[in-house]
Amino acid sequence: MSRFYITTPIYYVNDAPHVGHAYTTVNADALARWHRLIGDEVFFLTGTDEHGQKVARAAEEHGVTPKEWTDQLAPRFASAWSDLDIANDDFIRTTEPRHQRAVQQFLTRIYENGWIVKDTYRGLYCVACEQYYGEDELLEGGLCPIHRTPVDLLEEENYFFRLSAFEEQLIAWYEANPTAVVPEAKRNEALSFIRGGLRDISITRTSIDWGVAVPWDEKHVFYVWYDALINYLTAIGYGEDEARFESWWPVVHHLIGKEIIRFHCVWWPAMCMAAGIDPPAQVQVHGWLLVGGEKMSKSSLNQISPGELTADYGVDPVRYHLLRDTPLGSDGDFSAEGITSRYNADLANNLGNLLSRVATVVGSKCGGVGPAPDPDSRLSDVAVTALAEASAAWNAGLPHLGLEATWRLIRETNAELETAEPWKAEPGPGVDAVLGSALEVLRLVAILVSPAMPSTAAEIWRRIGLEGSPAEQTLPAAGAWGGYPAGRPVEKGAPLFPRRKG
Ligand code: ME8
Ligand code: MG
Repeated sequence: MSRFYITTPIYYVNDAPHVGHAYTTVNADALARWHRLIGDEVFFLTGTDEHGQKVARAAEEHGVTPKEWTDQLAPRFASAWSDLDIANDDFIRTTEPRHQRAVQQFLTRIYENGWIVKDTYRGLYCVACEQYYGEDELLEGGLCPIHRTPVDLLEEENYFFRLSAFEEQLIAWYEANPTAVVPEAKRNEALSFIRGGLRDISITRTSIDWGVAVPWDEKHVFYVWYDALINYLTAIGYGEDEARFESWWPVVHHLIGKEIIRFHCVWWPAMCMAAGIDPPAQVQVHGWLLVGGEKMSKSSLNQISPGELTADYGVDPVRYHLLRDTPLGSDGDFSAEGITSRYNADLANNLGNLLSRVATVVGSKCGGVGPAPDPDSRLSDVAVTALAEASAAWNAGLPHLGLEATWRLIRETNAELETAEPWKAEPGPGVDAVLGSALEVLRLVAILVSPAMPSTAAEIWRRIGLEGSPAEQTLPAAGAWGGYPAGRPVEKGAPLFPRRKG
């Protein structure tokens, strides 16, 4: 049995979650569910990033303390995820005592190893990014390249992480681990940033106190990124439960958006090296959901709340859209037209139609009792191929391709029914064979879509008369052709996905 530890970024609680955050979280959830389906032991972590200037400012603007603010906001993330049927194993908040302890232990280790030193720093800081920029990195007029807002000039005496000392080790690590950062274009981006030369990083602040105290110099708090990244260790027992920690580290898969590649693909592996632990096994970088060409973001007022969408379309259609329409690694335009056309094409016309026509004809020709699949059905070959392709895609962290392969099976089965026209034929062994095979496809499809649309999968399973749930199955064994048992009641029910006008 393999282990699969998957994480999302922990989101800033300066504002409520939007569909951009949902994009990462749903993809991570689907990957976690896929790995459970293939029998892996899975740990899926998400949470909130609650320290730092950005969050402190948001609290101030709302006239509350940072603690009050984060206590209001963190539950909004947790409930957005439960509304989206996200099955995370833990939800970490960086203000928790367990995290404070882990941060202090981890950074003390790096300090004792000699990789943290005191110095004076003067630089241009973007609060929205919580990051210093070199002048050459700014846009015309001295604006932040991500937020296009003015940066602040800060001067502080603080502690520095000697990132520059890790250039060679990082390059060697990239060379020895060609898939440590995927997709390859992002790996190359990180690697060329490293090859361009690394500067030491200021990792403490005296100007704010909303953070984790530096244990050896209490006037300072750790800079928010040096607190946040460590969440990935806190949640698996770093410094407190060595056996648990070792069972999950470094078999981690960090899923992140492309704007935080430098933190995860340069700083983070170097910090791990400096603390004497292995760097993460893999970072998977994805693109942005755009609205009218701009990144959907808390600072641009173009955000859409996940709750608004699920109220309109339903949870599973929203999950499906997020997984299917913007391949991990690419940017994607987010629009109501996009969700609607995908919904009508894939869910109403293909999947919904397959289920309803099979259930209807089993009702009219087989007395509502499912017949056995045909062992020699042409569909069995189609199913074998679809299962192999879907598995390869999901294992490679590419849900959109996994779903594409699954939908080829659905379309072929609809086409097979249109050729055989069991609804016109006399009841008998011919009709039984066709419908039994179509029911078998529905069984396989329920399993294959369960990571993406868990409740839809469970409902298909129930309607075709199966016990238990698709998520309880284990692939590849459950994927063998012929698993659908004859003699179960098949229920027609209301359309799963009624067609939408807009
Ligand atoms: O960066 N499209 O938090 P954050 C796709 N706290 N994904 C998007 C997105 C969009 N338009 N907008 C946000 C932080 N995301 C830090 C992380 S981790 C140790 C600390 C997703 O609230 C995407 O995953 O700005 C992105 O990387 C993350 O939200 C940033 O969330
Ligand atoms: Mg951000």
